[in-house]
Amino acid sequence: MSETSTKAAPVLQARGLVKRYGQVTAIDGADFDLLPGEVLAVIGDNGAGKTSLIKALTGALVPDRGEIRLNGEPVRFSGPQSARQYGIETVYQDLAVAPSMDIASNMFLGRELRRPGPLGSVLRLLDKKRMREQAAAHMADLGIGLRSLTQAVETLSGGQRQAVAVARSVAWARSVIVMDEPTAALGVKESGQVLDLIRRVRDKGLPVVLISHNMPHVFEIADRIHVHRLGRRAALIRPQDHSMAEVVAIMTGALSVSEGGGTVVADTEAAKAAGVTAD
Ligand SMILES: Nc1ncnc2c1ncn2[C@@H]1O[C@H](COP(=O)(O)OP(=O)(O)OP(=O)(O)O)[C@@H](O)[C@H]1O
Ligand SMILES: [Mg+2]
Repeated sequence: MSETSTKAAPVLQARGLVKRYGQVTAIDGADFDLLPGEVLAVIGDNGAGKTSLIKALTGALVPDRGEIRLNGEPVRFSGPQSARQYGIETVYQDLAVAPSMDIASNMFLGRELRRPGPLGSVLRLLDKKRMREQAAAHMADLGIGLRSLTQAVETLSGGQRQAVAVARSVAWARSVIVMDEPTAALGVKESGQVLDLIRRVRDKGLPVVLISHNMPHVFEIADRIHVHRLGRRAALIRPQDHSMAEVVAIMTGALSVSEGGGTVVADTEAAKAAGVTAD
């Protein structure tokens, strides 16, 4: 990434987010920055608070404190629908698609096109032909090769299904796409296809937030890595500046990263166990 794009204004930004559930603090003063046109990986141990952070950024939970800005403007999302209206789309790992419906219907789920005139406005008839045409054009544009858009999604492979879910969110997203573990259930080939698709989305200029536990995938695709630990951002780094072992050490607290990007050994024993040394 060039110096100028590093200094670009964030598309989505958060400062000091807090969310408590009784005694449990799920988000503990978390910051977040997503730049235009980047793939930002969000990684962290189980329970670090990644999902909670992403939920706050996509309207699925309302934080107790803190500020969220979209393109510099403070925003408050009352629910996922409200974030969607701002152009933020989320690809959920499980509830991604309606299995028994065909691909074109999935693309337009909840946003169906009606026939023109009274057939659509009065009788509420769906314009299936127009939805199929638009879905076909969109899939082709993303380089997703599927034999038939009238095929039920349940008959697709896991990777193809994930591709449909990603394509749907790309079709509607205007500012940000968030993907929660999009390759978790996929094989090597299918994961590769989804990663390719994420790259194509990024190349269209849409920034992508990718939650992942898969370190090789993160290193392969991320422009920057947000490391989440104990409810807040522990580091925001570039993959080319750190080894995977170092990133794992930041996740576990064995290493910490100074503002300038240099690593500092926070816990010598843990760092030794992770096989890393500070620079
Ligand atoms: N609705 C809730 N009620 C109570 N506690 C919650 C709730 N949601 C999350 N938490 C707690 O907040 C903390 C962070 O959870 P979160 O799901 O955000 O972690 P995560 O980083 O996504 O973990 P994983 O990698 O396992 O998905 C955990 O301790 C969790 O138990
Ligand atoms: Mg989670």
